[in-house]
Amino acid sequence: MMSRTKTFRFIVTLWLYFSTLTGFEYAQAQQLTPIQTTDYKSLKEAYQAYFSIGVALGPKNLVGDEARLIRHQFNSITAENAMKMGNLQPFEGKFYWKNADSIVNFAQQNGIKVRGHNLCWHEQTPNWIFKGKVGGEVTKAILLQRLKTHITTVVNRYKGKIYAWDVVNEAIDDNPNNDLRNSRWYQICGEDYILKAFEYAHAADPDAQLFYNDYNTERPEKRERIYRLLKRLKDKGVPIHGIGLQAHWSLQEPTEDELVSAIKRYASLGLKIQFTELDISIYPWEKNRRERKANETDQFTTELEQKQLKQYAMVFKVFRSFKDVITNVTFWNISDRHSWLDEYPVMGRKNYPLLFDQNLQPKKAYWEVINFKPH
Ligand code: GLA
Repeated sequence: MMSRTKTFRFIVTLWLYFSTLTGFEYAQAQQLTPIQTTDYKSLKEAYQAYFSIGVALGPKNLVGDEARLIRHQFNSITAENAMKMGNLQPFEGKFYWKNADSIVNFAQQNGIKVRGHNLCWHEQTPNWIFKGKVGGEVTKAILLQRLKTHITTVVNRYKGKIYAWDVVNEAIDDNPNNDLRNSRWYQICGEDYILKAFEYAHAADPDAQLFYNDYNTERPEKRERIYRLLKRLKDKGVPIHGIGLQAHWSLQEPTEDELVSAIKRYASLGLKIQFTELDISIYPWEKNRRERKANETDQFTTELEQKQLKQYAMVFKVFRSFKDVITNVTFWNISDRHSWLDEYPVMGRKNYPLLFDQNLQPKKAYWEVINFKPH
């Protein structure tokens, strides 16, 4: 047994030891997740004079250390899945609001803006919507009526709480020789479903900013096909206010020239620009993802770290120089702890695409994004 004096000395020594450690070292000493500090400059502070900074999330991210990071860093949020058609209206007329509401409530309680994502897409869409009332395929008139009911109900519910909507997502085909994607929407309605979706959303909330959202928007051939679609919409007087560039990028793309050209091209139509789903994977999009070699490990090497921080520095430099047309930049997921890319397409490969590491600590790329000379 220790004597009283010894016990006292032991306690004092312990106290001295731990009181001289930083939060991070203390946690390491205890082999816990590092204690999360928020005493450094946040993205939303650094970009206050430029554009809002957002993040995509789900209800499970609204508690604990992720919620703390979200409150510190972001002033805009997007529901990763909760507002997609299949999630909100899995059966005709049966709306499931719980998850979407919890995200909107969290935003309201914390003074965070919400982007709505999305109202019409070819994925995560329930099958019933394309089925005719007496079997077979639905008619164009009924499909548009269903689209109208969905959009009107959803936009109305969040009127005044959601300031911007991705109305149509990914309507352009992947094949450069085609124009619009040959989705069920297109097969049944032609291009009209796009026009109508915007009209329905505008009628439900005339104050909401309405976006067309897509990926690979900086690749010149796709950029031009998107440009032509947007121009047709503008020429017909469709209520569209902006384009969402998803920005699922890699170390290789886009180049600075491609990014600048895309922003200028879309902005020339008088549209606002938002980067809606930003991440910079350490792997190129199409190729390597499916070509993982046996024994290959997913290392975030110093070399990859350097390349990634350069790419992040470049794209944010370009964003800042277009602050007059860019109104939001949103990251798709919070940190490298979880990214949708890690599960896609069933590779289980870590992509390390974001600005915070698995312990929610800022990566080197973070400081490249934060430390800049305002001009
Ligand atoms: C697209 C969609 C997003 C999300 C990602 C993958 O970019 O717009 O909602 O589903 O794919 O997670």
